[in-house]
Amino acid sequence: MAKKIKGRRDFLKTSGLATLPFLLPTGLSASAGLTDYAKKEENVNFVTDGAMTSPLEYARELQVLAEKYPDAQDTYGKGGAVSRLEAEFAKLTGKQKAIFMPSGTMANNLALRVLSEGKSKIFVQEMSHLYRDEADAAQTVHSKRLVPLAPGKGEFSLADLKDSIAYHQKGEVFQSGFGAVSIENPVRRADGQVFSLEEIKKISAYCRENQIKLHLDGARLHLASAYSGVPIREYASYFDTVYISLYKYLGSKGGAILAGDAAVIDQMPHLIKIYGGNIYQNWPYAAVALDKIGNIESLLQQSRAKGGQLMALMNASGNMKVSPIQSGSNVFNLQITAPVNYEKFAAYLKEKQIQLRMPDSQGVIKFFVNETILRRSNESIMDALKKAIGSALA
Ligand SMILES: Cc1ncc(COP(=O)(O)O)c(C=O)c1O
Repeated sequence: MAKKIKGRRDFLKTSGLATLPFLLPTGLSASAGLTDYAKKEENVNFVTDGAMTSPLEYARELQVLAEKYPDAQDTYGKGGAVSRLEAEFAKLTGKQKAIFMPSGTMANNLALRVLSEGKSKIFVQEMSHLYRDEADAAQTVHSKRLVPLAPGKGEFSLADLKDSIAYHQKGEVFQSGFGAVSIENPVRRADGQVFSLEEIKKISAYCRENQIKLHLDGARLHLASAYSGVPIREYASYFDTVYISLYKYLGSKGGAILAGDAAVIDQMPHLIKIYGGNIYQNWPYAAVALDKIGNIESLLQQSRAKGGQLMALMNASGNMKVSPIQSGSNVFNLQITAPVNYEKFAAYLKEKQIQLRMPDSQGVIKFFVNETILRRSNESIMDALKKAIGSALA
């Protein structure tokens, strides 16, 4: 267990999720730093994709929701808040059915297992969560061969896909078939880069012509939608299955939704069970997301607009430079152009209840815009940032 936590911390460090030490001393571990995530009115975090809650706040939220939805309880994922959430997601994505999954990893893997039928090759972004962050589950548990496309790039093109298919078709005597293609959008390892809609359309049309199924890892699809202006339903229309996380910005502490045709989704309850994911009651995850799903689009739009105004003020201040990521969403590159001592900078901001990530070796801070920006005026955030710089000049 101790080993596991260490691994997670190491991952957080290497993924840049470590924050300034004074702001969040132990990463996201349970031992400390929870108050930093408190949903206090004043607390603004530029660290995560959504607002975070401490265990106590989550427990309080559950109490409110249990009163608001007295019929929230499910049994093994049937009924209550889970069934209501599934119905909401089916509507949102325009798919015939949606199902609650205990994790996005399971949603991705089971979707691709079913979509690819007996065929083993599945084409994915080399930078995708499926390829890099799911412990080779597709290969080891589901006997699939993940074929990575466009190494080091957020997205691949139809030409990349066709080239790879041709390479395998020509170069392998014993054919095993092309099972499915998966697209992650936005791309977490590419700082939230949004996959081009034009390319999605081309890939989707090609896959349909060639009877190759297409899955969308849309863990943060609402962020792609908020920043590209493409509705969730339109994105979903190009794919056979769509997964969306319940905890990136929907407030839950875990869980995922997978949406698709009834013929695919109806196979899931059995698969979830045999892979050990059939949990007795899931409402504590589903109810929180259910309560938020109706507001999330507007919250993200407001956050985007306010973030844009704040970053303009930061750029005008003369000692901060915020630049967008190409085809990006809610993640930006921040540089403090004045020479500051980051420990002092952090200590000041902590007092003012503002969280930032640690700068990388180039001095770039990944700056995440999320709904917590709506808790304070931009003037008050600017004031804190300016004073933090002033207090920390080296
Ligand atoms: C893009 C992407 N896909 C899938 C997942 C897996 O989600 P889960 O942690 O629910 O397994 C994540 C989680 O970080 C993710 O970022």
